[in-house]
Amino acid sequence: MTAQLNPRGDVAVLVPAAGAGIRLGPGGPKALRLLDGEPLLVHAVRRVAAAPSVRLIVVAAPSAEIDAVRALLAPIAPVTVVAGGAERQESVATALAAVPDEIEIVLVHDAARALAPPELVESVAAAVRGGSPAVIPVLPVVDTVKQVGRDGIVLATVDRSALRSVQTPQGFRHKVLAAAHAAASDPTSTMTDDAGLVERAGVEVTCVPGSERALKITRPLDLVLAEALLRVP
Ligand code: CTP
Ligand code: MG
Repeated sequence: MTAQLNPRGDVAVLVPAAGAGIRLGPGGPKALRLLDGEPLLVHAVRRVAAAPSVRLIVVAAPSAEIDAVRALLAPIAPVTVVAGGAERQESVATALAAVPDEIEIVLVHDAARALAPPELVESVAAAVRGGSPAVIPVLPVVDTVKQVGRDGIVLATVDRSALRSVQTPQGFRHKVLAAAHAAASDPTSTMTDDAGLVERAGVEVTCVPGSERALKITRPLDLVLAEALLRVP
């Protein structure tokens, strides 16, 4: 059944989905690869659309797949589809341009984190609504982390207690995200998240608890893990 978005919601969610999925191995664009018979993007959008504060969803699709993505998502939820760029940051900037000024909270969520639950969307949005200009969901780092030189020799052991793994959706006051993207000097930079841009602009970024279900599907084993997660109630 097609989800209805909340016309009185205060949240827009951008879903960059234009990546190739090189690390997943041969196949089509990652967002269109199947998990339990459905494209990752369908899983992601269905969960975002189920979050009660969401008024608008903008997907940045691979430019060759715009019509296919529109057709794919039409039965899931009302979604705006734009053409993504060569780098993730460009895809986000293009999607952001489709958000009207009156929507005050913008979340940026990777299609690759296809199983991030609606509750995570809501908790990030709530933290922004509560006054934080930028919010990221995080998990503690479980591995020991070392800094290593190019020669493969260990330089230092990093204090793990101060480290966090960062997920999406990341949430921002609309104006804060727009200003950070406008100030980003290099639209093709390889910055891997939006909070990084906002940090560079000197804005305080707040952490909220992330979700094990929001794992990023990157390599083939991640698809196996995600398939198993779907069976966990
Ligand atoms: N993304 C995007 N536009 C790009 C590159 C990435 O919209 N030019 C999106 C991806 O579709 C994904 C998210 O950003 O949902 C996170 O990127 P990543 O996990 O790196 O996905 P890919 O770039 O597709 O994978 P890879 O790096 O292995 O090619
Ligand atoms: Mg990538």
